[in-house]
Amino acid sequence: MKMETWTKSSAYSWRFFILLLLMFTNQVAAELRYSVPEEVKEATLVGNIAKDLGLEKSHLTGRKMRIASGSEDTFFFVNKDNGALQVRKKIDREELCHGSGACLVELKIIVENPLEMHHVVVENSDVNDHSPNFTKTEQHFQIAEHTSLGARFQLQAARDPDAGVNSIRTYVLSSNDYFDIDISQNDEDKRPFLVLKRQLDREKTNKLGLFVTAIDGGKPPQSGTLNVSVTVLDINDNRPSFDKEVYQIEIYENVPVGTIVTRVNATDPDEGTNGEIEYNIANILEPKIYSIFELESSKGQIKLKSRLDFEESDIYKIDIEASDKAAPPLTGRCRVDVKIKDINDNSPIIDITSLSNTISEDSKPGTAISLISVTDKDSGINGKTIMHILNDAPFELKPSYKENIYSLVTKEHLDRVAVSHYDILIQAKDYEDGIHGDNDVHCLLFGFGFHVSSLPRRN
Ligand SMILES: *[C@@H]1O[C@H](CO)[C@@H](O)[C@H](O)[C@H]1NC(C)=O
Repeated sequence: MKMETWTKSSAYSWRFFILLLLMFTNQVAAELRYSVPEEVKEATLVGNIAKDLGLEKSHLTGRKMRIASGSEDTFFFVNKDNGALQVRKKIDREELCHGSGACLVELKIIVENPLEMHHVVVENSDVNDHSPNFTKTEQHFQIAEHTSLGARFQLQAARDPDAGVNSIRTYVLSSNDYFDIDISQNDEDKRPFLVLKRQLDREKTNKLGLFVTAIDGGKPPQSGTLNVSVTVLDINDNRPSFDKEVYQIEIYENVPVGTIVTRVNATDPDEGTNGEIEYNIANILEPKIYSIFELESSKGQIKLKSRLDFEESDIYKIDIEASDKAAPPLTGRCRVDVKIKDINDNSPIIDITSLSNTISEDSKPGTAISLISVTDKDSGINGKTIMHILNDAPFELKPSYKENIYSLVTKEHLDRVAVSHYDILIQAKDYEDGIHGDNDVHCLLFGFGFHVSSLPRRN
């Protein structure tokens, strides 16, 4: 008996348990689910609760169906006439839920007579109502030229509160020669990077203006734009370079000290001190150059420091170095060839190389009395001289076998009885069309005399 009672009561409790289980399952199954897109108009129908719960429409008024008060009830209301759940005010999904998961609103619906409570879950589906948005619309980078290719620069990520496919899908970079865009994805997070694909050269492009567009996956897609500016920083990658490798200058030997011989010009396209140039004479092994020429180090002007003399040197080769002011500096070289032009600054010099101070009366016309050589240290036309016999005498000068050597010869028979002594005055004179310096035409007078001797006595 006792045993039987136990069995019976045990069977009852089992039945009760199953009932509870069924009720529970029923209740879960009875939970109503609706879905409504966000941003729909007020009074939009979400679903008819009364119908879905199987409540008689005619009894509705008596049952006072309503939403139990709670924080989320304000978005919806129950139409008392037909038991429909409707939208009370516009729902902004992003205001209601954060993140991109399902946005659910749970409502408790109360019905009276008899008192019942039902659960209603409304899913708020996303519409693409937001554009991707960059917190700051500008982003600036300073990147050194010669930065290695492949270098990455993180861009600001855009935000788009829309969920799922409506959130940011990709980033697009405006077309340009230097950068690609790369998007690294970490879970839901997309991070855009600029990736350097071509060597930057400040001397070609010192600034770049790009824009990045963030695009979401909605239909149609929405987008947001970020302006990206890149300043290319200089490095000292250019050496000073001269206009010419060799400057050819010609000046007269008599130009005054202080004269500007020439100006050399080097340029360096680098920025700031990387492009500032200083000039120096680089003839380290030729101290003479330094004593004759002075180089103004910032302007590249070469000035004459002391007097020139063509007869001493007719050319100077000045090596010039231009350095920029970077540390370490880069240098460039050029040469200035200063050719000195002669001017007629030297007088002729006469040299009597052979002389007899007597001449026999029976000498035939054309007899040489003397060889006269004339030299002039000047060159070319400046070194040429003309010789004249200035006084009236029966002699003439004849060019000889060698330039600048003349013979003084008799022009006719001499007669000792008539004239026994001659004085001859010779002038050596520079060409008048030579280039003259401080002095006028140079000339030199040279005089000498000799006797005419009588005929030898015939025996
Ligand atoms: C030097 O050369 C550069 C390039 O050729 C030129 O732009 C500049 O005017 C020159 N400077 C002088 C002082 O001649």
